[in-house]
Amino acid sequence: MKIRSKIKNYSLELVDDLLDSKDRLPLLKSKGRLFYFVDRRFQELYKEKLNKFIGNDFCLLIDAKEDNKSYLKIADYFRALIKAGFSRNDTLVTFGGGILQDISGFIASTLYRGINWVYVPTTLLAQADSCIGSKTSINFDSAKNLIGTFYPPDAIYLDQSFCDSLPDDAFNSGLGEIIKFHLLTTDQKRLDLLQKYLNGPDLRHSPLFKKVVLSSLYIKKSYFETEEFDKGRRNLLNYGHCFGHALESASHFGISHGEAVIVGMGFANALALKRGVLKKPTFDRIEAILKNRYPRFDFSKIDITDLIGYMKQDKKRAGKDLTMILPKTIGRHFKYTDVKESEVRGIYDSFVRQYPRLN
Ligand SMILES: NC(=O)c1ccc[n+]([C@@H]2O[C@H](COP(=O)([O-])OP(=O)(O)OC[C@H]3O[C@@H](n4cnc5c(N)ncnc54)[C@H](O)[C@@H]3O)[C@@H](O)[C@H]2O)c1
Repeated sequence: MKIRSKIKNYSLELVDDLLDSKDRLPLLKSKGRLFYFVDRRFQELYKEKLNKFIGNDFCLLIDAKEDNKSYLKIADYFRALIKAGFSRNDTLVTFGGGILQDISGFIASTLYRGINWVYVPTTLLAQADSCIGSKTSINFDSAKNLIGTFYPPDAIYLDQSFCDSLPDDAFNSGLGEIIKFHLLTTDQKRLDLLQKYLNGPDLRHSPLFKKVVLSSLYIKKSYFETEEFDKGRRNLLNYGHCFGHALESASHFGISHGEAVIVGMGFANALALKRGVLKKPTFDRIEAILKNRYPRFDFSKIDITDLIGYMKQDKKRAGKDLTMILPKTIGRHFKYTDVKESEVRGIYDSFVRQYPRLN
């Protein structure tokens, strides 16, 4: 896959047995030296092959914790690279999920005003979503993703077998974003593909896994290639995120991001139905896709006033009311900046009463 960017064009390649295939990865054969940032958990799981892959090159292991993605921690990573003698000809190579991606992308975009960077995403969320789109985000004090830049890797090498070792919640998190992308397209073939994939028995080893991940990336690409800097159409990718992000915060991150997005899409649909924006037959069609994917979640621990407080802190909010992306139908979503707190309160109880619809 080739991706056009105002910063630099880049490519994504699927590679089987990546850890045994260093010679087949062209961007790792550059003139300079290679410096690695690796997710510590990933290193523990793939130690033998990874150590062989890295050889004697510099490698910094980083725990994938939100605290490590903070503004104050960033100095440590700059220091490590500078101390190890990183120069402009060299390349930073990252193995990890979204946390390692955000840390590395921020460093890569700012060190020497931009360095060579190769990214190997190791979680489903990173493979099917975050690896493309150029965003890098850093936490500041208690605010998540407050600071950031736009900077893509030079190349992304993707090996789907890394998803075999993911815990269920991390796998489902990626699945949440995959479902979201397919609800944002009018291409019936892609939606059929998703449904066929979701109805299969073993999602990690499905013959459709590769296709569905690529399909997600193609849909995402169609939303940002002309709107890279988060204006207009790209905003629609936040479907399910206003309520989803608030749920993550109100539950003190007791739910994974993509799983919260699934709940958030369900809530956005309920609100759109109540407003008359979404018609009942389409609501039912979407619900039929979501219903088996709602994560177990205990709403009794959530305080609605807290939740609305977090919805008000949404970075995408414009004006005094809440901002939400609502579907008119599958693949036709719009940004509404006039959602009243009373509307959210009005449907919250019945939404929670019916949740989870699967059990
Ligand atoms: N820059 C972007 O465009 C963008 C988009 C979405 C999310 N994000 C950010 O991504 C972060 C979440 O990323 P994520 O969900 O990919 O996960 P993550 O990086 O938080 O990792 C989740 C867990 O999986 C472990 N892990 C990584 N690879 C593994 C593997 N192959 N097998 C087993 N365990 C593995 C990690 O050590 C960690 O414990 C958040 O900080 C979010 O803000 C960034």
